[in-house]
Amino acid sequence: MIFKQFFDNVSFTYTYLISSGKGREALIIDPVIEKVNDYILYLKKLDLKLVKVIDTHIHADHVSGLKELHEQTNCATIMGEQSLSEVVSMRVKDNEKIKIENISITSIYTPGHTDCSYSFFMDDRVFTGDTLLINGTGRTDFQNGSSKDQYYSLFDRILKLPEKTFVYPAHDYKGNNVSTIRDEIKNNPRLQIKSINEYMEIMNNLNLASPKMMDVAVPSNIKGVNLKEFSKSIR
Ligand SMILES: [Fe+2]
Repeated sequence: MIFKQFFDNVSFTYTYLISSGKGREALIIDPVIEKVNDYILYLKKLDLKLVKVIDTHIHADHVSGLKELHEQTNCATIMGEQSLSEVVSMRVKDNEKIKIENISITSIYTPGHTDCSYSFFMDDRVFTGDTLLINGTGRTDFQNGSSKDQYYSLFDRILKLPEKTFVYPAHDYKGNNVSTIRDEIKNNPRLQIKSINEYMEIMNNLNLASPKMMDVAVPSNIKGVNLKEFSKSIR
């Protein structure tokens, strides 16, 4: 299997590229628009055909590469059915299979960070978007976020996956690039709680500033922008 983790050091976003092998079909999760040419180069180098691209949710801290990748490769664009994105060609519900050659990924509806947040499970790993981060969890104070929903998404869904499952989040701000369900259950400070009320109390009192890119990113990710439109929007 080919598995490549890309990092955007402006928004601290991780992007994942998956394929069963050289010369085969590939899928990308959470692409960042400024990095699209890096993904295209990598695809070319390994003779991969990008057929599907997924956003785990409408991002507020970076502009998605979904539309640009679609325009360059004609790949399908995938998000959950709750997403407001206008550039999605395939909408998934909870527990649906997303397939590319020799690979199958299962969608898990994990609202809380936003109401359109999904995680994606594949064999020994889970892509958690901003639902479960390494030693953290995604904020729940905008985009119809809900600390209550996130509690259930975490404790009833993600943390019920096998303990040895690798956790690949959409962001990390401290240089961690992978964890496991076991390590998060044991060490993640947000998960060391006794009740849903305790979790909601923590999440509802984080008092975080809005992401810098939010005013550009959210409308761009709903409408969908390609590289040309993106450069105009930040001028
Ligand atoms: Fe997010």
